[in-house]
Amino acid sequence: MADKKARLTVDGLEGEIELPVYSGTEGPDVIDVRPLTGQGLFTYDPGFVSTAACESKLTYIDGGKGILLHGGYPIEQLANHSDYLEVCYLLLNGELPTPEEKEEFVNIVSNHTMVHEQMSHFFNGFRRDAHPMAIMVACVGALSAFYHDSLDINDAHHREVCAYRLIAKMPTLAAMCYKYSIGQPFMYPRNELSYAENFLHMMFATPCGEYKVSPTLARAMDKIFVLHADHEQNASTSTVRLAGSSGANPFACIAAGIAALWGPAHGGANEAVLVMLEEIGDEANIPEFIERAKDPNDPFRLMGFGHRVYRNFDPRAKVMKQTCDEVLAELGIENDPLLKIAKRLEQIALEDDYFVERKLYPNVDFYSGIILKAIGIPTSMFTVIFALSRTIGWISHWNEFHSSPNKIGRPRQLYTGPKFRDYPSK
Ligand code: SDX
Repeated sequence: MADKKARLTVDGLEGEIELPVYSGTEGPDVIDVRPLTGQGLFTYDPGFVSTAACESKLTYIDGGKGILLHGGYPIEQLANHSDYLEVCYLLLNGELPTPEEKEEFVNIVSNHTMVHEQMSHFFNGFRRDAHPMAIMVACVGALSAFYHDSLDINDAHHREVCAYRLIAKMPTLAAMCYKYSIGQPFMYPRNELSYAENFLHMMFATPCGEYKVSPTLARAMDKIFVLHADHEQNASTSTVRLAGSSGANPFACIAAGIAALWGPAHGGANEAVLVMLEEIGDEANIPEFIERAKDPNDPFRLMGFGHRVYRNFDPRAKVMKQTCDEVLAELGIENDPLLKIAKRLEQIALEDDYFVERKLYPNVDFYSGIILKAIGIPTSMFTVIFALSRTIGWISHWNEFHSSPNKIGRPRQLYTGPKFRDYPSK
């Protein structure tokens, strides 16, 4: 309970209002402002810049120090020494699995990778050039139609099965989006392959012959999945929690998260970074784009730069940059022109007062697109990869929300519209 108090005096109100202050295991204390309602007051915090919307044990971010922990483990160590399914287990259960628990978890996920055969018919309603995020929002939401009758969100086992299904089926649906866009047949999952190998197999194999997944690319793909797995109460995760608070079917909640992630200010930034790098086209053009990014009258932003929480390097961007160098060297394309533009852009921006004063650093999206492009994934699929990876974060937060007493989320507002008035008599 509260071990500290905040005291508030408000002009026009007698005395002072005492508010409980809670401390977490890490991070800033929080002031419980719920007593304000009884005093006829709301807090006002557009964009939730300084609002803790919930209590959570999953992920901790220290934006000032550039720290990201999942279950207490730093992202750099997880990215370099763990793997995506182990991180999925950690986020769902709060502890790393024993070897036996890991083997069981991997087997269960591997045996949920197929989607209902009817799902393939959904694709036929889309044009081949439909944005794959539009298809993912539709298809993941449509999974509700196959499972919503067999899910008691108040039953922990039902919630666990739903998590397995979503972790397992997202790569299958994502690969189906890609195959549909290029007019190739869908490839069924191969349960003997690892999670990342299976995804790359479904993306790039064809029924016409054997396809050998490159271990280097599979490792890079798995690392990208790990780096995007969860990130506290970001816009899409908060969307999933809010949708979940109404008791909506988890597949519908994840579809809402996918929709929120799509925006270029959020998960859509990785696609926007590649578009921006291609628009810059040559290192000589970088100064012009830097000036546009600084111009308050120009809507252009340096995509892949800045973050609501990080006022230091995004630790994921550092791992991503290192992985970028490794993958492109392995593929013999270390002189990739886009990578050269990205590195020069980062160097110039980090020396420019505008970015330094505002503590704008590369975020997770700045280098990820260059790796994904090197793996052979088209730009339009970048945010789908982000959604695939973040599904574990979304469903872990959804599960955490339903694991304890909860209320429907219902923010209030500062109303500045017309006062009461009668409808004009005719
Ligand atoms: C993700 O929340 C998460 O955790 C998200 C995420 C996750 O894992 O879930 O980390 C994933 O979404 C990463 C962010 C990807 N988005 C982009 O790369 C898009 C470009 N970045 C910006 O749109 C922006 O930095 C945001 C949206 C990321 C953060 O915006 P904020 O916190 O609302 O910051 P702000 O807009 O108030 O910016 C503060 C100042 C402003 O200038 P002033 O008004 O003070 O003069 O910095 C400027 C902004 O104009 N600024 C930028 C900039 N980002 C902020 N100027 C140029 N280029 C940029 N990229």
